[in-house]
Amino acid sequence: METLKIAIAKGRLAKYSIELLEEIGIDCQVLKEDSRKLVFTLPQHHIEVILLKAVDVPTYVEHGVVDMGIVGKDVLMEQERQLYEVVDLKFGVCKFSVAGRPNGTNGKKHLRVATKYPNVTKKYFAQKGQSVEVIRQEGSVELAPLMGLSDVIVDIVETGKTLKENGLVVLEDIANISARLVLNKVSYKTKKKEITTIIDLIAEKVS
Ligand code: PRP
Repeated sequence: METLKIAIAKGRLAKYSIELLEEIGIDCQVLKEDSRKLVFTLPQHHIEVILLKAVDVPTYVEHGVVDMGIVGKDVLMEQERQLYEVVDLKFGVCKFSVAGRPNGTNGKKHLRVATKYPNVTKKYFAQKGQSVEVIRQEGSVELAPLMGLSDVIVDIVETGKTLKENGLVVLEDIANISARLVLNKVSYKTKKKEITTIIDLIAEKVS
């Protein structure tokens, strides 16, 4: 039996991803131990799990370094990689939203938009025919409208707590987001049996 390599996004999705693997019978105890390890071999299941920053998961899957991955739809929408998106895992549920000060954009014709998601942002405003300057940020995007760097932000909103605590509100919703199971296109052919077994178990669990 071939070893299946699975990439999991660190951060907000990791706990749920590990829980899901356990629910389909994969013992992930080693993954729950407090360590800085990034590669975990689960020989009894012929599985290797690697922990990556969410933005790096699609790269590893597309290049076939891993066979499958669990990552947010936000990252997939931003990167538009060559891979198969096969199951909506229904956790990590949030939204892509435009947010800003409660008085909105005051009808401005040209908006400055701060975001960690420049491609999603450009696409969204282009579809609306709205002219924007996209200002790329790496984090704490909420600061940008507060400090006058931008008029609005495009970001993921889960509970809305971060916006609220910074005096911002959702102005428009762009898309619903959740975690997805993704596959390398070649692995799907070469390890079809192993991959199909896992997909079926996961799909049944989340249905
Ligand atoms: C995300 C996002 C918001 C926050 C929204 O950041 O960029 O800041 O979560 O969540 P809430 O609606 O529940 O408050 P994340 O925690 O992923 O950290 P980052 O800014 O470092 O990317």
